[in-house]
Amino acid sequence: MRKILFLLSLALPLAAQDGGQLYGLYCSACHGADGKGATGGQFPPLAGSPWPMGNPDRGIKIVLHGLHQPVEVNGKTYNLEMPPQGAALPDDQIAAILTHVRSSWGNKAAAVSVDQVKKVRAATMQRKEHWTAAELLKQHPLENAKPALANLISHHYKGSFTSMPDFSKLKPDAVEEEPSGLIDYSSYAKTDHFAMTWEGDLETPGGKHEFYLDSDDGSRLWVDGKVVAEIKTLGPVGRTVKKGVDLKAGTHKIRLEYFEFTANEGLSVGVKFAKQRSILWLSKEKGSSAVKTWPEIMLKPSADRPIIYRNFIQGTTARGIGVGFPGGINIAYSADHLSAELLWTGDFIDAGHHWTDRGVGYEPPASKKVFALSKVGAFSFASESTTAWPATSEIPVRFRGYQLSPEGNPTFLVDAAKARVLDGYEAVTHPGPAMLRTLRVEGKPTQTISLLVYEGNLQTKQPDRFSAEGLSVTVTGGQFRYSNNTVVLDLTAAQSQLRYNW
Ligand code: HEC
Repeated sequence: MRKILFLLSLALPLAAQDGGQLYGLYCSACHGADGKGATGGQFPPLAGSPWPMGNPDRGIKIVLHGLHQPVEVNGKTYNLEMPPQGAALPDDQIAAILTHVRSSWGNKAAAVSVDQVKKVRAATMQRKEHWTAAELLKQHPLENAKPALANLISHHYKGSFTSMPDFSKLKPDAVEEEPSGLIDYSSYAKTDHFAMTWEGDLETPGGKHEFYLDSDDGSRLWVDGKVVAEIKTLGPVGRTVKKGVDLKAGTHKIRLEYFEFTANEGLSVGVKFAKQRSILWLSKEKGSSAVKTWPEIMLKPSADRPIIYRNFIQGTTARGIGVGFPGGINIAYSADHLSAELLWTGDFIDAGHHWTDRGVGYEPPASKKVFALSKVGAFSFASESTTAWPATSEIPVRFRGYQLSPEGNPTFLVDAAKARVLDGYEAVTHPGPAMLRTLRVEGKPTQTISLLVYEGNLQTKQPDRFSAEGLSVTVTGGQFRYSNNTVVLDLTAAQSQLRYNW
């Protein structure tokens, strides 16, 4: 017996490197002896992480040259720096360590050979910098270890929904299996006006878990046949609903319903299991208002001057321009849609996300009192029909930037029909809160330029005022035109002024 063992160990001289011991020496200080991330999870875990799994080249590269900048592990973003270890560790030790990582704490992946490490080292000899997660993902996309939702099936419905439809009365136009296990409307959302449902199985530990839901427009989350969270109305993301739910350990039925009326879409749903700090996202999109991994840097206007913030703002397009007026009145103007799209009161925006996380993702308004104003591009041209919709592409409408008044109030400039539209915004706190929007056309337009003031369900309509849920708008210098759910204003007066109260 002894003899045979002795011979075996001779036959495997290099594999005899003790990966566990080497891991304890070279990795555990940061990643923890239990692989969960040292100092209570301040460092990223290797247990359950997809990074060292799958294609071994990814893990080898990280150990050789280190890693910096944001990296997401199991739903949590880290923005730290791991030092390179390639100089300190020979190929066989790296192979042994990674083999240990890939087969410990529930991780299950094939051993890493010395040859693999040797190859990667030779191929990356010239490399002097740390890797970034983004670079590695391009070279070696993560093999999705385990889908968040098992047996996920989606149903897609066409229709113009302004509230959650009764799905039992609708016929789906597509039913799909979703092996990614992630709730994702993007393969369908080429047009507006649709609804979707997803059903799948979620395995949970026992305890009181917290579910997070956010959407543009509405959504409803069911767990085991009960509604646990709901966003009922049309509106932008940034309206996160958080709900605690007691669940027994085991498999639970998840159903998510979603409808999208027009323009922007968004849907995120996640769960933070009892005693865990990170959120497991069940959707492809991750809601950023629910969890912050960056320090808060709240932007505030000075007492008498608005502040302008140009960065990704959730609920508007990529070219969003936030304006925080004194008195806690704020707008987000979209340079793509040429209109203020969001109005909100309260805190302006937390810039910490973009200043420390280098612009990943969108940041929602800092307050929950957000009103989505115009869901579609704003300027177009009057035609025979009552609506001035949609904008004709032969007549370009272009964003030209903005000017600031001596008080710091912005006027956005739009070129249309060979003329210029000046679209100025000013906050009113007394009696308020209200937003004054002043529109003027300079030059002689080749056609009447119209403004799509609003699209959505209307409660009252008069020539000089209309109201919708939570919003009323009056006009001086011009009259509103109505057609179905849209409100249009022809810019023919020397100056038109809209007053938004919400
Ligand atoms: C000095 C601390 C430190 C040491 C030692 C260290 N790491 Fe890391 N490691 C980090 C940090 C910090 C990150 C995340 C870097 C970032 O934010 O971009 C990381 C990221 C990783 C990742 C990708 C993310 C994840 O959690 O899966 C892997 C894989 C990894 N390390 C493996 C190792 C292995 C194997 C060793 C030992 C050879 C090791 N690390 C040693 C600090 C360290």
